[in-house]
Amino acid sequence: MRVRILSSEPCLAGSLQPPPDKSISHRGLLMALLARGMSRLDHLSSALDVTATASMIEAYGASLRVEGSVTLIESPGLEGLVEPDQVLDLGNSGTGARLGIGVATLVPGLSLFTGDDSLRHRPMGRVIDPLRQLGATIWGRSDDQYLPAMVRGGGLQPGTIHLPVASAQVKSALLFAALGVDGPVQVVEPALSRPHTEELFRLAGIDLQEDSTTESGAHMVTVVGPKRPLPLDMRIPGDPSAAAFFLVGAACTPGASLDVEEMYLGPTRTGFLEILERMGSTLQPGHGHLVVQGSSLEGVEIGGSIIPSLIDEIPILCVAAAFASGVTTIRDASELRVKETDRIETTAQLLRSFGLEVEELPDGLIVYGGLQPGSLGNRQRVVVANLDHRIAMAAAMLGVVAGGVTEIEGVETVATSYPDFFRDLEKLSSATIELM
Ligand code: S3P
Repeated sequence: MRVRILSSEPCLAGSLQPPPDKSISHRGLLMALLARGMSRLDHLSSALDVTATASMIEAYGASLRVEGSVTLIESPGLEGLVEPDQVLDLGNSGTGARLGIGVATLVPGLSLFTGDDSLRHRPMGRVIDPLRQLGATIWGRSDDQYLPAMVRGGGLQPGTIHLPVASAQVKSALLFAALGVDGPVQVVEPALSRPHTEELFRLAGIDLQEDSTTESGAHMVTVVGPKRPLPLDMRIPGDPSAAAFFLVGAACTPGASLDVEEMYLGPTRTGFLEILERMGSTLQPGHGHLVVQGSSLEGVEIGGSIIPSLIDEIPILCVAAAFASGVTTIRDASELRVKETDRIETTAQLLRSFGLEVEELPDGLIVYGGLQPGSLGNRQRVVVANLDHRIAMAAAMLGVVAGGVTEIEGVETVATSYPDFFRDLEKLSSATIELM
């Protein structure tokens, strides 16, 4: 599928209700699988990544029913889970696959995991290796580093795992696995990554010990198993990583004004808002919503401990950098190389297709800004999304603000995280959107 975006006088205005948070939706489904009884998730994501996780929990024995905005999940609970009689295909979803591998260690028998062409080339050793250190039996393609992978449940022992990079997916896989261990499992990450698994454990009545007081900034979390979660009853908040496309688009369009409602505002997810403010943007937080006004932006340096809190927003922050005066430098973000695409390379390609000057660093990018909103009105360009939803959405927003005609190939990938993205873009921007 391709989209053609025609933009003459860029403007973004109105009110956005972002889609339900994808990270929290995955975890809500997995917690519901592990809890015996009926869980109730209001405003669950309908993104394809999350529906792949929903199919996975059905394969383990849960049943799902939708009533209005609520998804009801009935599960036999941890003790009643069944060995799946099919391969678990997590599509494009790194979160679904990595958390799923952690959960599979709790289920007797074999679980087989695969995914799409992008996911089968993303590193799985980062989750397989630490689970094996705890005694798990897992095999994967290419010396246990990639999908397809196979897990034989059971056999885990207490232990302490030091993660080389802050990764919420790896931490979460270990925390889920810890529920079945007889004794403590401690996970130490170099910086705090998004703590949604910890938040949901607490909602499900599971006690965790956390310690962030180490000098190095390391964060420790300990679960003493075995533990059984209680069913959840919760509403999933809006996804900041989805809202970021519109917030940034509005921030770099003078005259724009956008109101975002009901978005998760925890600090591990909103580093991009801090960067927008440092670039000169005006953000007004209200009760349960956030208003952004368009203004002129300035280039900034982004690096260090803020990176985990904005890692998914770097492609769209580079769009802000394109419209900022001066230079924006992003460092310490080598994790971008192992996302749905190598996002250092694909973000640089995207900006270059709009005539911008960009340098690729091993762990980041240097973006030479100065592009004027609406100044490319008489130009055309074609961008290829390469199974990367965030590159597709960053391309669309760059096209809307820069002006002219932007064609993006492979935009079906947007449905992995934000199925209504183009509908919202049509509603909130002055551009014409033609899906073909
Ligand atoms: C996610 C964690 C992050 C993020 C991804 C979602 C999660 O990945 O990039 O989009 O839901 O746990 P890492 O765990 O690899 O940092």
